Amino acid sequence: MQKLIIQGGQKLEGDIPVQGAKNSALPILSASLLCEGESILENCPELSDVYTACQILTSAGCKCDMKHHVVCVKADTLRNSEIPEKLMQEMRSSIIFLGAMLGRTGTCTLGYPGGCELGPRPIDLHLQAFQKMGVKVHEENGILFCHTPNGLHGAKIHLNFPSVGATENLMLAGTLAKGETVIKNAAREPEIIDLANYLMKCGAKIFGAGSDSIRIQGVKKLHGCTYRIMPDRIVTATWLATAAITGSNLRLLHTDVNSLEGILDVLEQMQCQCSYQDNHICISAGKPLHAVRYLKTMPYPGFPTDTQAIFMAALCKANGSSVIEETIFENRFRHVDALVKMGADIRVIGRVAVIHGVKQLHGATVSATDLRGGACLLVAGLGATGETVLTDIAHIDRGYDKPEILLQKLGAKIERIFSP
Ligand code: UD1
Repeated sequence: MQKLIIQGGQKLEGDIPVQGAKNSALPILSASLLCEGESILENCPELSDVYTACQILTSAGCKCDMKHHVVCVKADTLRNSEIPEKLMQEMRSSIIFLGAMLGRTGTCTLGYPGGCELGPRPIDLHLQAFQKMGVKVHEENGILFCHTPNGLHGAKIHLNFPSVGATENLMLAGTLAKGETVIKNAAREPEIIDLANYLMKCGAKIFGAGSDSIRIQGVKKLHGCTYRIMPDRIVTATWLATAAITGSNLRLLHTDVNSLEGILDVLEQMQCQCSYQDNHICISAGKPLHAVRYLKTMPYPGFPTDTQAIFMAALCKANGSSVIEETIFENRFRHVDALVKMGADIRVIGRVAVIHGVKQLHGATVSATDLRGGACLLVAGLGATGETVLTDIAHIDRGYDKPEILLQKLGAKIERIFSP
C-alpha cells in the first residue's frame, strides 16, 4: 500500500513539463496493433494504465518495450485475439482494443471493462455500432465472443451520445474495414484528433476528426511510424488548479493551449491570471479566488467531466458560492465526503453540487475513490493547512506520472510512503 503525505499550505514556484496525455496514449497504443512494422510512440506517460495497455499488446503476441517515455510496438507477431480477463478489469480503456483487434484479425474475445466507478458505464453504443459493421457478438458468462463471418465492413453509424470510447473504437475498426465508415454525432475531443493523426501517419484515410462527422475510408494495411503523443490537458488543468488553490505562480511547459479553452475561461472567472507564450502557460494566482456561479460538465469543447473534481477542490476556498452540475456520469461526486472531512462546505443534490467557499481547508486522512477524485484530494491537500494523508493512491498512479517528484521540485512538502 502506498500513501502520499502532504504538508499543505506551501506556495509553489517553477516550471512544470506537462506529461503526455493518457487518454491519447491508450487509444494510440491500441491502434499500434493495426500496423505492420514498428510504431515508436514518444512522450508516452509512465502510468499503470499505459503498462496495462502494453500488457494487452504483449499478451496478443506483439512486442512492446517502454523506456524513457518512448514505447516501441511491433505488432507483426500478433497471434492471439483474446484479451485476458484480468487486464480487461484493470481499466475502462481496455474496451478500445476491441475495435483494433476486430480490424486486424476479425475476431476478439473479451470480458466487460473495469475502470473508475463513476456510475453505470455501459458499452452498448460500441456493440450496436460493431454489429452494423458485420460483427456477430455472442455472450456467455460475461465473456463476449466477437467474430465477423462475412468480414468487417464500413457502415453509417449515428451515436446517440458523442461517446469518446465508441468514436475511437469505430475509427480503429473502420480503418482496415472494407468500404467507408461514417460516424455521426462523433466525439470531438482533442484526443480523437491525436488518434486520427497517428492513424493517418500510418496510412489510414480519415476525414473530419475533431468535427461531429468522421469519415473513414478503409485501407488494406497500415505501416508503423514515429509519433509524439499530445500533452495531457487534464493533467495541465490539475496543475493550474493547484496554482489557484495555493496562490502560486507556475509556468506549464509544452501544453496545448487550444485544447484548454473551457478550462482557462473558468480560471479567469476565479481571478487567476494566465498568459501564454507559444504553448507555455504562466499562471499567477496571488489574488483571493472568486466562486464560479455555474459550471456544467459537457462533451468537448465544454467543461470536461475529468476536471470537475479537480476544480471543485480549488472552489472550496473561493469567495462565494459555486454550483457544479455533472451531466456526463451518474456518480462522479465521490470525492465530496473527503473534501467535507477537510473542512469544505458542499451540498450535493442529485447531479448538482453547491460549494460555499470557506477560508481554509485543513489536512485529514482521506482516500482516493477514483482517478480524478484522487487528484482532487491531492490538490486540496496542497492547498490545506496541516498534514493530509492520502491513501489508495493507485487510482492517482493510473493518470499522473510520479506527481510527488514534480511537486517537490516546485517546493511542495509531499512524500510517497510505502507501507505494508
Ligand atoms: C473517456 C475518457 C474519460 C472521460 C470520458 C468523458 C479515456 C480513456 N477516457 O471515457 O476520462 O471521463 O471520456 O469525457 O479517454 N456511454 C453509454 N454507452 C456506451 C458508451 C458510453 O451509455 O456504449 C455513456 C457513459 O456511461 C457516459 C457517457 O456515455 O455516461 C460518456 O462516456 P464516454 O464518452 O464513452 O467515456 P469513455 O470513453 O469511457
